[in-house]
Amino acid sequence: MTAPPLAGTVDVPSAPDPDADTPTAPDALRRAAGRVLLRNWTGASTVPSRGLYPHQWSWDSAFIAIGLRHLSVVRAQRELESLLAAQWGDGRLPHIVFNRAVPLDAYFPSPDFWRSSRAGRAAGAPARVETSGIVQPPVHALAAWLVHRADPEVSRRRGFLRRLYPRLVNWHRYLTRRRDLGGHGLASVLHPWEPGMDNSPCWDGPLRRVEPAAAGSFQRADLDHGAAADRPTDLDYGRYVRLATDYRDHGYLDADTPHAFVVEDPGVNALLIASEHALAEIATALGQDPTDHRTRAETLTATLVRRLWDPAAGMFRCHDVIAGRSVPERGVSGLLPLVLPGLPSDVATALMRTMTGEHFGLGAAVRLVPSYALTGNAFDPSRYWRGPAWFNVNWLLERGLRTHGRHPLAAELRRAALETAASSRFAEYVDPYTGEARGTRDFGWTAALTLDLLATDRRAGASDASREAVR
Ligand code: SER
Repeated sequence: MTAPPLAGTVDVPSAPDPDADTPTAPDALRRAAGRVLLRNWTGASTVPSRGLYPHQWSWDSAFIAIGLRHLSVVRAQRELESLLAAQWGDGRLPHIVFNRAVPLDAYFPSPDFWRSSRAGRAAGAPARVETSGIVQPPVHALAAWLVHRADPEVSRRRGFLRRLYPRLVNWHRYLTRRRDLGGHGLASVLHPWEPGMDNSPCWDGPLRRVEPAAAGSFQRADLDHGAAADRPTDLDYGRYVRLATDYRDHGYLDADTPHAFVVEDPGVNALLIASEHALAEIATALGQDPTDHRTRAETLTATLVRRLWDPAAGMFRCHDVIAGRSVPERGVSGLLPLVLPGLPSDVATALMRTMTGEHFGLGAAVRLVPSYALTGNAFDPSRYWRGPAWFNVNWLLERGLRTHGRHPLAAELRRAALETAASSRFAEYVDPYTGEARGTRDFGWTAALTLDLLATDRRAGASDASREAVR
């Protein structure tokens, strides 16, 4: 599949040059990142990767829109609009929106596995587009607000926020009402793909209850594009397939499915809260009352701290709802609440201590925060979410550090992320010790967030040439 020509005003050449030298100067890096986004654009959205992920992914699109706004605000708006057009009647935003032009065997599980338009009819799945039936972290309202702010005039003229706002409100309503399966006021995930950190050791315990689908009953496509050592195992895949099959066979109805995996994840809930704060900004921009959004953000923050904060560990923990216990692993999602402005200051301070301490090693053992504790038994510097550093996670933590006043550390993290994005050819993830590329290359959100970090760096530099302002 080749990308169709683009409308819009992106000033970049039409194809990447794989032999180009590592771009290190900001302008060269900006152009190289722009080329990746251009190449991954399909006409209405951006694929995370041409080979490994050839459709539209939910949280990828949100992060991609955040970077795309620096190249073309209209295209960044369309990225979110095309995703939200596939929203289900019950409010859920599917984690994949399938491109019908892509052959079925290019990605597994394909549309004929999910069968959303038929199996999801009772849950309100759209009839005209095929999607998956599970969700991903709700970064979308935050992305919509950042995209709006990039050019409020264009946004107003296109009715961007006015059209998206009711859909985003329904999305959050789905998560806070239908997904509060623990009954404690937090959203739960039902599949390891939902928190986006598919293969985190945090899921190993809860997944043990899941009977894997038989090895020969499905055909993985991911190993055609990535090294087996960087990807989940066949046993993990068997369990992923079982959970998705059971959900599908119960019409994707949350109340009817006998769930074998229900986890409250601090990352998902932190992003929900960050997006609820963004909904308050969006409501205000539309002349509506933001009070409900602010109240919900505050209540959710208090619940998150009450239910998932582990003071002894100095971080948030996942909660296995079925077993009724905290997950004894240190996954990076337990640091993501740092993005929240309303976090109690002792919690924020402890999180930053943990991030720079022996378990996550920022600024000492590593320059980018790993996806799982360096000290954990299951740590693996190469394998999907079991140790490597990811750019979206580090983008969120950089934002969190600035939110809580740690400007020099944020600047250092930006520098490390930009250098590593350049040297790894916009890798999907990297070995946290060496920065060596893992997974696929020319990855959508790595390129997009590079653009955003460059813009943050420019703003930080411009606000005070002496750099004191970023300290
Ligand atoms: N990340 C999953 C995959 O590897 C699904 O979203 O395909």
